[in-house]
Amino acid sequence: MRLSHAEFTAMNHPLRRFVQKHLEFRNFQTLGLVDKQRNIMEIGCGSGYGAVLLSTLQPKTYLGIDLMPEQIALAGKWHLPGCEFKTMDASDMADIPSGSKDIIVIFGILHHIPAWRNVLSECRRVLACGGRLFAEEPDGNIVRCFDKLFHWRHPNADFSLEAFEREMLRCGFEIVQKRKFAGFGTYAARLPQ
Ligand SMILES: C[S@@+](CC[C@H](N)C(=O)[O-])C[C@H]1O[C@@H](n2cnc3c(N)ncnc32)[C@H](O)[C@@H]1O
Repeated sequence: MRLSHAEFTAMNHPLRRFVQKHLEFRNFQTLGLVDKQRNIMEIGCGSGYGAVLLSTLQPKTYLGIDLMPEQIALAGKWHLPGCEFKTMDASDMADIPSGSKDIIVIFGILHHIPAWRNVLSECRRVLACGGRLFAEEPDGNIVRCFDKLFHWRHPNADFSLEAFEREMLRCGFEIVQKRKFAGFGTYAARLPQ
């Protein structure tokens, strides 16, 4: 879904970048997101701060996709060498060749997408054998709580961490590590070799 004005403003606030860098990215690193020279794709890259963090891994390639052209335009303003950004709906990534990515990173996106299960199937398709998925998401009750407090107006995406874990397994991912804290889950998952 497109972000509401309130959430768009919050997602592009310096405080959001602080959390993304010092909590979420650091958490991913401790779960094994440390490899250099990989083909990385970020789903729901927003205004590109995730790309700033991921480019410290010196990826072989980086592709960030997002539904909102406004976010993609902001992402381009970082002028990150070798980073490509595209407007695309993550539930249909037909333009991305199968098996072409080593690592997919998701900073809090699936709970925005009613067809989030299709996104996971697409992740399975575009990842190479042994490819890895790093994802951070809030549980469904946290999303509802944020909507009550801040009027962010998420869609009824039928999303919960429990359903997410089930769906990863159904798609053939092995959940290598997970961490849950204060209603947020951080995951490192892998496809078979
Ligand atoms: C909560 S924001 C997070 C942005 C950024 N990853 C961050 O952590 O600050 C969710 C992002 O997902 C994008 N999004 C929502 N639905 C999408 C879809 N179906 N396909 C791709 N991106 C989507 C939104 O446009 C938005 O930029």
